[in-house]
Amino acid sequence: MSLVKMIVIAIIVCTIGAAAFVVLAWRPSIAPVASNAQTFNDELVARGKNLAALGNCITCHTSRRDQPFAGGLALRTPFGTIYSTNITPDPETGIGRWPEIAFRRAMREGVDRQGRHLYPAFPYDHFTLLTDQDNQALYAYLMTRTPVRTSPHENELPFPLNIRLLIAGWKLLFFSPGRFQPNSTKSASWNHGAYLVEGLAHCGACHTPRNALGAERRSDAFAGGEAEGWTAYALNGSSPAPVPWNSESLSFYLRNGWHAAHGGARGPMAPVVENLASSQRSDIEAIAAYMAGILGEPSAERRQKGEALIQRVRDTRAESNLVFSENQTVGRGDGATRRGALVYAAACATCHESIRPAPFGGINLALSTGPSGPTARNVINVVLWGVPPAEGRRSPIMPGFANVLTDEQLVALLAYLRSRFGDKPPWQNLEQDVHDTRSGKRHVSIYSSPVSDLNLAGVGAGELR
Ligand code: HEC
Ligand code: HEC
Ligand code: HEC
Repeated sequence: MSLVKMIVIAIIVCTIGAAAFVVLAWRPSIAPVASNAQTFNDELVARGKNLAALGNCITCHTSRRDQPFAGGLALRTPFGTIYSTNITPDPETGIGRWPEIAFRRAMREGVDRQGRHLYPAFPYDHFTLLTDQDNQALYAYLMTRTPVRTSPHENELPFPLNIRLLIAGWKLLFFSPGRFQPNSTKSASWNHGAYLVEGLAHCGACHTPRNALGAERRSDAFAGGEAEGWTAYALNGSSPAPVPWNSESLSFYLRNGWHAAHGGARGPMAPVVENLASSQRSDIEAIAAYMAGILGEPSAERRQKGEALIQRVRDTRAESNLVFSENQTVGRGDGATRRGALVYAAACATCHESIRPAPFGGINLALSTGPSGPTARNVINVVLWGVPPAEGRRSPIMPGFANVLTDEQLVALLAYLRSRFGDKPPWQNLEQDVHDTRSGKRHVSIYSSPVSDLNLAGVGAGELR
């Protein structure tokens, strides 16, 4: 075959391929409906409200507290910034003229009413599992919210990522649409937990690592991921939590945002639990039971270590208001670690080794996953920016130390926390991590952690026992 012939054939094959791709990628527009043409019964709307809380919809779709669901929140991805859309029923700028089938298609396939592919920053790779009934209830809930007229900011994505057709290629590689398939060998409540965790609550969106193209590595499900400058710890057998989680502690943590043997939910986990606090208890319990299964039974050794740790912290608390002995903290490690011990004694111990109980007192850091985590990020974020007060509500508060500690002191403190409270090898590249966080090179979202009265009803149950 001559070279010219081969080139001609290659061009024909590529053209057919490209045409086939465009045909495959094409989605029709769905005709708009007149807004306000529909009514919804209260029971359906109430069900939708619970589902929206489980799906964390309000967190991503709200940038101003007085305009819930009006979108405009900047979601920073490694590829650029994507702004969430307005999902209030405003007919011009929201989804007021979307029929229910258009909403369902968006949730199931990641395609908008006009037929454009949506970026997977919208976690439809999880929402695709939702039942028609749940989509119907969510639709009813959103269509009965206050309409807000506002158009979100244009996405900031470099060429060619700003071409929505390319998302169809991404979907071909990484997205399998389809409803949840129950496992008939498991109980109904296990299946309910699986449906929520894998689908609506999309826990893996943060807790599962992603590949270079931003898709979750499903073979490493729950092996730990990243979100908004924070580490979302592993929730499988490799969980770094000093005290192993079980379904009771998970259920308490997810409902209340903290647990006495684990500490509080910080960073992007804070709004997740804030929303879960208002959803049905039976749903949270199903989520907790399913997650406990993924975490697996801890080894006898790990369980004993956890129990011994709780006992030690309890003894420390009982001994006196503040137990803090020099040789306990300054004994180990090199020069930097010793300098870190001094910072800890001066700046941290009064709150973190006091008897003030959770959630308002600082947890004994031996119990926190922070010092045992795969990166120092969450500890750096908390130490630099603190735990800010929640506006008009009760919340634990910790001051930020960004203006108090130098990079060198912070690095020494981190090395010390790791060696005293963690049981893993020292963190690497601490200088770089501290520098990137403080300079804003790594963008970190900071959230407060409000504790509602509803949540405080469970305080007794969360005591260290
Ligand atoms: C992790 C953040 C995130 C969460 C959680 C989230 N969304 Fe979104 N959603 C987005 C983003 C970002 C877009 C826009 C994607 C784009 O422009 O391609 C979007 C788009 C949508 C759209 C398409 C709207 C349009 O105008 O094109 C609908 C409908 C929607 N979301 C509904 C929901 C519902 C219902 C929930 C909760 C069950 C939810 N979203 C939770 C980020 C999120
Ligand atoms: C938006 C991202 C995001 C989503 C969605 C999310 N998480 Fe998290 N999660 C995090 C981050 C970040 C942390 C670390 C928080 C911290 O340092 O306090 C975390 C921490 C946790 C912890 C504490 C782990 C430990 O060892 O301390 C548990 C348990 C947890 N998440 C469970 C869940 C479950 C269950 C879901 C789904 C219902 C979920 N998360 C959804 C980001 C997320
Ligand atoms: C004024 C009291 C106070 C001081 C001082 C303080 N903290 Fe905190 N810290 C808190 C409170 C309250 C919380 C939130 C409750 C919790 O999670 O323990 C918290 C949370 C934390 C957490 C998250 C723990 C978890 O897993 O939930 C870390 C890590 C932490 N502090 C480290 C430090 C370090 C390091 C210092 C010293 C540089 C320090 N804190 C100084 C009160 C304080």
